[in-house]
Amino acid sequence: MKSDPKILVSNGYDRMAETYLARFGRSIVRDRWLAALAALLPPAGGARVLDLGCGAGLPVAKELTALGHRILGIDGSKRQVALARHNVPAGDFLHGDMTTTELPETSFDAVSAFYSITHVPRSEHGDLLKRIAGWLKPGGVFVGSLGATASSDWQGEWMGTEMYFSHYGSDRNISLVQEAGLTIEHAEEQLQDDEDHRFLWIIARKPISVEPGCSLDGHGALERRSGNPGGRHR
Ligand SMILES: C[S@@+](CC[C@H](N)C(=O)[O-])C[C@H]1O[C@@H](n2cnc3c(N)ncnc32)[C@H](O)[C@@H]1O
Repeated sequence: MKSDPKILVSNGYDRMAETYLARFGRSIVRDRWLAALAALLPPAGGARVLDLGCGAGLPVAKELTALGHRILGIDGSKRQVALARHNVPAGDFLHGDMTTTELPETSFDAVSAFYSITHVPRSEHGDLLKRIAGWLKPGGVFVGSLGATASSDWQGEWMGTEMYFSHYGSDRNISLVQEAGLTIEHAEEQLQDDEDHRFLWIIARKPISVEPGCSLDGHGALERRSGNPGGRHR
């Protein structure tokens, strides 16, 4: 009989959080998308960022707090949350399931989910993406990895423990992001470092209602197109 995937995943990370960090704590690919996220946030800091499946807080929460942003990390593994609190004292961390944890609507400037949604049963990905869209402020940005190829319910040995992965392929994932109400700004399949595995990386923004005569700048802020010098406002 198959175990509950979410319990299997959280137990698995409780057992091998340190092993995961030693093996995957450094990644050129993750650094690239973390830099892309950081570049979309205000340079002066102060953004509220929700990091789903934050792991040990390294490097995402640590780097974003160092840039002056306010991080809330959520992880289903108690061990990962304990490590994150130790590694990133300036961050806030919750032990919880990203598919059920209640958070205030329209309260985050950005949501990140690096290598975490692919541990959630794929039948729940559409609803999860809608939750992400709900948590974002208008103009807020989602940056995260989703499946590039379809795999319905993989359960087996990974990193010395039982683990579970589930994801759709890129086309379906792009549709799910759009159906959640997010506008895709960038979607790209990328090979994961030296592994024989690809993820689909997404940068998507929650639209804001734009007044006539205004447009969005690169940070999702409103700026007046003409006739209003200095008319930028949020
Ligand atoms: C592959 S690790 C990625 C950790 C970190 N984001 C990184 O970039 O290294 C996946 C993390 O997602 C967490 N996770 C998986 N499913 C989750 C869920 N439903 N709710 C919250 N966290 C979850 C796991 O406990 C684990 O810490």
